[in-house]
Amino acid sequence: MKVPLLDLKAHHAPLIEKFDRAIREVIESSAFAGGPFVERFEEEFAVFCDSAYAVGVGNGTDALWLTLLALGIGEGDEVITVPNTFIATAEAITYCKARPVFVDVDKDTFTMNPAELEKALTDRTKAIIPVHLFGQPADMDPILEFARAHGLFVIEDAAQAHGGEYKGRKAGTLGDAGCFSFYPGKNLGAFGEAGAVVTNDPELRKQIQMLRDHGQARKYYHTMMGWNCRMDGIQAAVLSVKLRHLYEANSLRRKHALGYNQAFAGIDEILTPFEAKYARHVYHVYAIRVQKRDVVVRDLQEKGVGCAVHYPVPIHLQDACRDLGYTKGAFPVAENLADEFVSLPMFPELTEEQIEYVARCVAEVVGVEAFA
Ligand SMILES: Cc1ncc(COP(=O)(O)O)c(C=O)c1O
Repeated sequence: MKVPLLDLKAHHAPLIEKFDRAIREVIESSAFAGGPFVERFEEEFAVFCDSAYAVGVGNGTDALWLTLLALGIGEGDEVITVPNTFIATAEAITYCKARPVFVDVDKDTFTMNPAELEKALTDRTKAIIPVHLFGQPADMDPILEFARAHGLFVIEDAAQAHGGEYKGRKAGTLGDAGCFSFYPGKNLGAFGEAGAVVTNDPELRKQIQMLRDHGQARKYYHTMMGWNCRMDGIQAAVLSVKLRHLYEANSLRRKHALGYNQAFAGIDEILTPFEAKYARHVYHVYAIRVQKRDVVVRDLQEKGVGCAVHYPVPIHLQDACRDLGYTKGAFPVAENLADEFVSLPMFPELTEEQIEYVARCVAEVVGVEAFA
């Protein structure tokens, strides 16, 4: 048997006719860049998130970058985030000419450890970006409390957490803004690149709308220098179709995660992900922790099990961040996780047989003979 890490074809197959109709509508109206399909998706996504506004942009990296710019983050400022994330979180900070400052993560949730924030605070700190890694929200209450006490903005990197919840509230709606990626493999994925910012702040919404569209509120009247980060109409139309199935797709991911957890229960060699009491985890990634990870990945691939490592090198140790001056050992929890993580196949259409096969293969490659 072969089990892919992700099966987008299986996810899209039952919706093909809806996609055809939605894309044809865009073609017939020629509303390709921004326009009514983007506006409709923005309204729908805001409703889904229980947020006042959503602003569609080109991708998740744009969402983070434009939000930082709109909040006035710039040269000489520092933004606190975590080292175990996708590079885009740190890139967005750097592309505003600000400096990323990292704090270590919690060993159970893999998300920002609020107790570490104090150490990273300086008089240049302007914002915090917690990352809702793998689909589980960071522990937002203490982060928000710290931000309030020190006058900092909180921007949630919710690129992996569409529909995730913190104490019953949607990921992305707890801070000043939430940034989403609709990269095709995400829980809500487009047919190309797309992203969005959600916020309850009308002024922030307006700023991001202007920045994404060359600084214009009215065509060819530019009140500021912006950029071109518009969402395109075809992506918006596709996302509107898929959004209607997101809750159900997330529920299936949760069911599969439980299936894996049960299969691995009692095997000391395999550490399964932990769902915090405050969270509704939406398992964008189902990552276990094992020793000799690279051997496990190689052996799983040989058995036809698609797996990946999110992420093999924490951001502070990436060559691109050498100038920031961090060295190995700076964030032991994040570094240890980077050595142990293996992401297993996770998508809504996984079958019980596939889960059983993956679980059996994982048990075999970690050396558990007696796995039934
Ligand atoms: C945590 C995180 N932040 C930001 C991004 C950037 O999103 P995009 O690839 O849409 O630019 C991603 C996408 O992979 C991500 O996983």
